[in-house]
Amino acid sequence: MAVRKPKVVVTRKLPDPVETRMRELFDTELNVEDRPLGPEGLARAMAGADVLVSTITDRIDASVVGGAGERLKLIANFGVGVDHIDVAAATERGIFVTNTPGVLTDDTADLTMGLIMAVSRRVVEGAHVIQAGDFHGWSPTWMLGQRISGKRLGIIGMGRIGQALARRARAFGLSIHYHNRKPVSPRIAEALEATYWESLDQMLARMDILSVNCPHTPGTYHLLSARRLKLIRPHAILVNTARGEIIDEAALAGMLQAGELAGAGLDVFEHEPTVNPKLLKLANVVLLPHMSSATIEGRVDMGEKVIVNIRTWMDGHKPPDRVVPSML
Ligand code: 8YV
Repeated sequence: MAVRKPKVVVTRKLPDPVETRMRELFDTELNVEDRPLGPEGLARAMAGADVLVSTITDRIDASVVGGAGERLKLIANFGVGVDHIDVAAATERGIFVTNTPGVLTDDTADLTMGLIMAVSRRVVEGAHVIQAGDFHGWSPTWMLGQRISGKRLGIIGMGRIGQALARRARAFGLSIHYHNRKPVSPRIAEALEATYWESLDQMLARMDILSVNCPHTPGTYHLLSARRLKLIRPHAILVNTARGEIIDEAALAGMLQAGELAGAGLDVFEHEPTVNPKLLKLANVVLLPHMSSATIEGRVDMGEKVIVNIRTWMDGHKPPDRVVPSML
């Protein structure tokens, strides 16, 4: 007897090898034109699918979950962050939620290090000088940035990506400091020679470079509030490759404009894809369009994780990358 393949609706265009494999394995509805579904399209997908393959551009709140069809049993998110999904509402309705941890760790840490470098050493400003035809010869006091080695890096959120950043940063001669809900194991702390700060406020006031690497949850929304941003020393720089909502973006933009902070490297924004217009005018910021995990290899690996999660669920097992409310 032929076994019915699950109906899998994929909300965005995925890399070709991933889509090909999904077509082989499932009754797959792809979005080859890559148009975000919007609320109506998403509601239709949720109503008719067994499995929804979502991305960060799908807002799956409690009311969207409430409109899910009886057959929807799995939301297999393409991405590690699940702050766009009401995991508690889904779980209550018996819908599993999975994500894609691990496979985008190195890519994200690489670009975080790239932002640290770009802001400290004015890489983008320098490139603009060339492109504008304004390079008229070397000068000893021109385009001076800040040295990276010997500085203190404060990592906010010492999970997989925070630790991968720490490993890279050590090779650049930075000393590693971190704030986390709890300290990492002594083995990891020792290997990274990392100093734990229980108080985020105290760490902020003592670092040269700060990097946001924690997930966005109700507990981390505006973790870097206007008050906390003011604790950071004016010569310091701040980078964020996690989620925009973790920083009060308006307060940050105001401080950068006023010279109360030396610079910022932002790959994510509070009201994505909208960027605070103040930030666009500043020379001391490097702004990227949410691309820290954007490598061909990373996106294929993410797709592979999604497929493994769906297959495991099909076989009646708990998907390996299940997200449950207590993890958030
Ligand atoms: C992804 C990300 O590209 O995985 C995440 O949480 O932020 C990104 O790197 C995006 O979320 C894909 O949905």
